[in-house]
Amino acid sequence: MKRLIAVITALILIVVIYSVGDDNHASEVTEDDPKIGLLQLVSHPSLDQITNGIIDELEKEGFIDGETMDLDFQNAQGDQNNMNTMSNRFVNNHVDVMIGIATPAVQALTNSSSDIPIVMGAVTDPINAGLVDNLDKPGGNITGVRDVTPYQEQVDLITEILPDIETLGIIYSNGEVNSVKQSEETKEYAESLGIEVIEATITSTNDLQQVGQHLVDQVDAIWVGTDNNVASAFPTLIEVANGRNVPVFPAVAEMVQEGGIATQGLNQYELGVLTGRMVVQVLQGADPATLAVEDPSETELIINTTQAELLGIELNDSTIESADQIIEEEN
Ligand code: TRP
Repeated sequence: MKRLIAVITALILIVVIYSVGDDNHASEVTEDDPKIGLLQLVSHPSLDQITNGIIDELEKEGFIDGETMDLDFQNAQGDQNNMNTMSNRFVNNHVDVMIGIATPAVQALTNSSSDIPIVMGAVTDPINAGLVDNLDKPGGNITGVRDVTPYQEQVDLITEILPDIETLGIIYSNGEVNSVKQSEETKEYAESLGIEVIEATITSTNDLQQVGQHLVDQVDAIWVGTDNNVASAFPTLIEVANGRNVPVFPAVAEMVQEGGIATQGLNQYELGVLTGRMVVQVLQGADPATLAVEDPSETELIINTTQAELLGIELNDSTIESADQIIEEEN
């Protein structure tokens, strides 16, 4: 009897699996469906959010991977050789559009093709990165979303939370074109408010601990922008800064989640949604040459009250009340 039940169960399973398989078969991608190559520089929480936003938006518009589109998603793990290989592979596979997440990824894509449309996801400084000459009329085969850090609002937030601040540390990668300018601008603005700024640069994630260690002994607080190396090893910086009770004010919510104090920043997922929308426009025939680069400026206030408490920082009620999101760990 047991045996019979087992056989019947197995038969039912086979039928079920077969019919599910058949369903998939019916909706498999065809030659007519678009092919998309998506290249992400590296995994860090903000870039992951951008990718999620892109994929969700494409799905919302009816482009579903494996059904109505063929998505080749590649993560270069921060490696330049990977980026070149992956970009060339997209070109050899004749994708309809390529998406790059973060500056070096988009640069690799533009080096691989001057005619396949490219949409950039969150490039801070597309002009200095040599990607476009004109934001309103990009001219070539590339357009997309720019993420300019609202550094003035961020410095204002620092002085609101730390009215007595005298010295601010800024840590960034001197090799990241997306970081250099925003760090300069932030420095100038903070100095204009009478704050002394001490800059520290890293060349890779490996330097962050040592350079951070040196910096925390000289400053009242640290600001970091949208730097891919810093974002990739952010918990290391927090560990070092916590050791000296130095608060870190990062450019984005994801780093506040990982132990930053607060930010007034761009929503990373929404940057992805915006990027996805541009991809859809391009798939529907829009020419990147005449599609203006999007430049979102709406910001959100994110505060990590657990971290503030840990460092003994008092937050005003008005600051807390205006927060769009509060990060609070329950113990
Ligand atoms: N703007 C960055 C670049 O041009 C990429 C980026 C987007 C980023 N969001 C971020 C980097 C958040 C660090 C943290 O490469």
